[in-house]
Amino acid sequence: MNLIKKNITKVKQSATLVINEKSKQLIADGKKVYSFGFGQSPFPVPEKIVSVLKDNAHKKEYLPMQGLEELREAVSKYLFSQTGVNYSKENILITPGSKEAMLLMHVAFNGDILLPTSSWVSYEPQANIAKNKTHWIKTKRENNWFPTADELEKKIKMKIKNKNIILILNSPNNPSGSVCKNLKQLAKIAKKNKILVLSDEIYTDLTFNGSYDSISKYYPEGTLISGGLSKWCGAGGWRLGFIAVPDKLKKFLKSLKTLASESYSTVNTPLQYAAVEAYSGDYENYKNKTRKILEGVGNYAYNNLKSNKILLTPPEGAFYLMPEFLGTKFKNSNHLCEKILEDTGVALLPGSDFGFEPKKMIARLSYTDFDGENFLNSLEDNGNLTDGMVEKFAPNVVEGIKKLSNWAKKI
Ligand SMILES: Cc1ncc(COP(=O)(O)O)c(C=O)c1O
Repeated sequence: MNLIKKNITKVKQSATLVINEKSKQLIADGKKVYSFGFGQSPFPVPEKIVSVLKDNAHKKEYLPMQGLEELREAVSKYLFSQTGVNYSKENILITPGSKEAMLLMHVAFNGDILLPTSSWVSYEPQANIAKNKTHWIKTKRENNWFPTADELEKKIKMKIKNKNIILILNSPNNPSGSVCKNLKQLAKIAKKNKILVLSDEIYTDLTFNGSYDSISKYYPEGTLISGGLSKWCGAGGWRLGFIAVPDKLKKFLKSLKTLASESYSTVNTPLQYAAVEAYSGDYENYKNKTRKILEGVGNYAYNNLKSNKILLTPPEGAFYLMPEFLGTKFKNSNHLCEKILEDTGVALLPGSDFGFEPKKMIARLSYTDFDGENFLNSLEDNGNLTDGMVEKFAPNVVEGIKKLSNWAKKI
């Protein structure tokens, strides 16, 4: 008898892991690998937040299942300061990473999921685990890899009439590094067609122009927001996230809370106290500097890669670029990435993992292979960032980009 549920066997192992395994093997064989596959912040968690974590390490009692009240209040105020929308502390659930929040959302939700191409690797598998049907909306480079209002409306009308729908939007975007410029228009369509939006704002604090744009500003009653400490605060391994739910979805939130209570119970206690500091303290200087470094490194990579063989959209946030290789003859983007890794030591992730057709020769490049602590300590407050500094403090990125650029010239 088959031991595994059919929808679970359908969830394939991500190519991310395959590339990571292959990278490890190359490193074990003594080869140099440029780790442009992994999407992790290179920066240390701010010292003050670490010290609050230490000071609370002795606290061992379970906290309320929905999360520490003080933390929910801090997140609520924080979201209000960024979006002008009031998600009250009662409408916020603290989760072990925002990924878990999204999984619970899928498990509770009865309906279909709309995903723009390109989208983060885990949205579709999570929907499959929860048996929610997914629909992809094709996007174009000239529209910054986000759907237009028309494209969204057509998809809703043509494919999935009369259903509950959640559109997942992520800006700045993993994998494209682009920012969505038409949130207002998308909000209008979502509202008109009564669909919900999950705004994945895990990278929104890493928008290079410093503005925090959220679709909740234009459609507060239908927008759920997920976020957390993993990216802007450099604390991916700490596992702290949240989901904020609008008032009219109180019943939905109740289900999320039930699922939380029957799975992880509550997020670990010391971390929730540290997160209060992260969301209520003033970390503008840290954010400004980390954004400036990421923007500088991203622009360096962009300027030195774009050519008549590599199409690229300029970096606007997060820490990714999405190069498209022209004139190649590989079977699919997975094969393309394997070949690049073998030939140059540069590890990229295939575009097919992010919803692109496998034949499209596109990949995700994460430009975080540098010592963020060292770079951060060397950048003065309000100091300028030069290419010379990128060369000094991000040598692996510089070298890997050069190898990749030379490789593309030969294909
Ligand atoms: C687009 C996007 N959303 C959500 C997450 C999940 O973040 P976490 O579970 O660490 O909060 C990630 C992490 O890589 C991501 O890239």
